[in-house]
Amino acid sequence: MARLVQQLATPELGQLVAQLSVRYEKYRFRELKLDLTRGKPSTEQLKLSDAMDGVLQGNFRASDGTDVRNYGGLRGIPEARQLGATLMNTRPEWVMAGGNSSLTLMHQLVHAALSHGLWGAGSAWSDEAEASGRPIRFLCPVPGYDRHFTICESLGIEMVNVAIGPDGPDLAELELLLADDPNIKGIWCIPKYSNPTGCVYSDAVIRGLAELPKRAGRNFLILWDNAYGVHDFEFPARPLPDLMSYADAAGTADHVAMFTSTSKITFAGGGIGFLAASAAVLSAFEKRLSASTIGPDKVNQLRHARFLDGRIEDHMRAHAELVRPRFDAVLERLERDLGGREIASWTRPSGGYFISFDTMPGLAREVVKLAADVGVALTPAGATFTYGKDPDDRNIRLAPTFPSVADVTAATEVFTVCVQLATARKLLLSRTDR
Ligand SMILES: Cc1ncc(COP(=O)(O)O)c(C=O)c1O
Repeated sequence: MARLVQQLATPELGQLVAQLSVRYEKYRFRELKLDLTRGKPSTEQLKLSDAMDGVLQGNFRASDGTDVRNYGGLRGIPEARQLGATLMNTRPEWVMAGGNSSLTLMHQLVHAALSHGLWGAGSAWSDEAEASGRPIRFLCPVPGYDRHFTICESLGIEMVNVAIGPDGPDLAELELLLADDPNIKGIWCIPKYSNPTGCVYSDAVIRGLAELPKRAGRNFLILWDNAYGVHDFEFPARPLPDLMSYADAAGTADHVAMFTSTSKITFAGGGIGFLAASAAVLSAFEKRLSASTIGPDKVNQLRHARFLDGRIEDHMRAHAELVRPRFDAVLERLERDLGGREIASWTRPSGGYFISFDTMPGLAREVVKLAADVGVALTPAGATFTYGKDPDDRNIRLAPTFPSVADVTAATEVFTVCVQLATARKLLLSRTDR
C-alpha cells in the first residue's frame, strides 16, 4: 500500500485486494500455529527464578521467628509484606501477603464488600442495592482487563464503560457519573502499563483519584490493580506514586484497595498475591477470610522474600532483556507494514505485557477471524471491553511475551496482512455498495 489505500481508485483497490488475498492464502499452506493471546511469561523468563528452588536450605524461620511450615498468620510473614510494600511503593503495615493470585484477592474483597461490607455494620453493597431497587455498578476504564469484568459479571455487578487516555481515565467524566448514581461503588484501575493500552496514570490523575471517594456515594472502593508495577523496559525505573499515601492524606484511605503479585516476576500462578489497604479494611477483610482459610503458603512467601531481597531491579532488568525484543519485533513490523497508512493505530508501551491495537471501526472481529483461519491465535475481539462487546469493534490486544522472537515476528507479519486485507476489502465493498 504505497499510497494511502483510501486514495486509490476503485480498480487499483480491487487489484490490491487481489494481491493481498494471494499473500494471505499462501499462509494457509504454511500450517502456522502461532499464539499472541494471553500475557504469559516465556519459558526463559520463568527460568530467571529457578534458583528460588532450594533457597531456604532448611531455614524455615521468618524474621519474626514464625515457623513458616506451620498454620497461621493470615496477613503473611513480615518479609513478604515488606516485599509487597516494595513492589507497590507503599508501607508494609498496609500490606497483606496472601496466596498465589492477586485476582483471587480481588474477587474475595469485592465479594466481601458486596455481601458483608468492609466499613462496619450496614455497609454491605447488596443491602443498598436491595433498598434502592437498583443494581450495584462499577466504573470500568476500557479497553481493560477481561478478568476484572468477569469478577463483576460473576457477582452481578453492572459495568459502566469509561474511556482511558494516555494518563488514565478522565476525572471529570468519572465525577459526572458518580454524581449521577450513588450505586456506583467501585472502579477498576491498572495504573502502570495498563492492560492492554500500556498507559501509566499521571501523578495528577492519581491525586485526583484519591479524592474520588468524596464525590461518590457511601462505601466507594478504588480497585488499584498494579500488576505491572515493576515491569519496566528502561532502568532506573520510575516508581508509581503511592495512591494509598495520597488517600491517607485526603482522608479516603478506607476506600482504596491496591493489588499486585509476583506472578510475572517469578512463577506465574506460583507466586504471592498482595493486597494493600487501610488497617480498618484489612481487619474487616481478614475476618471474612478467616472463614475460608487458616493462612497462606508461608513457605512460598519466605522463599520469595529471600530470593528477591535487594535484587528486584536486577531481576526485572533480566526480564526486560527478554520481553523488550519481543515488543520491538511487533512494533517494528507494525510500523513497517502499517505505519503512516492511516488505517490503524497502536500503543508503544515502555513496560508491561501488552500492545493495544485499533483497526478502523468494524474490523477487529474480521481481523481476528482471518488470522485464526491461517493459524495465528489472537485475543478474541471485544475481550478488552465489558460484556465482551467493543462498541466500535476495533480493539485487539496483542500479547508478545510468550512466543519466541521469531514466532512473534512471523505472527505479526500475518497479522498486518490480515489488517490490510480486511481494510482494503471493506473500503472496496463500501465503494461498490454505493
Ligand atoms: C491487570 C492484571 N491483573 C491481574 C492479573 C493476574 O494476576 P495474578 O496472577 O496475581 O492473579 C493479570 C494477569 O494477566 C493482569 O493482567
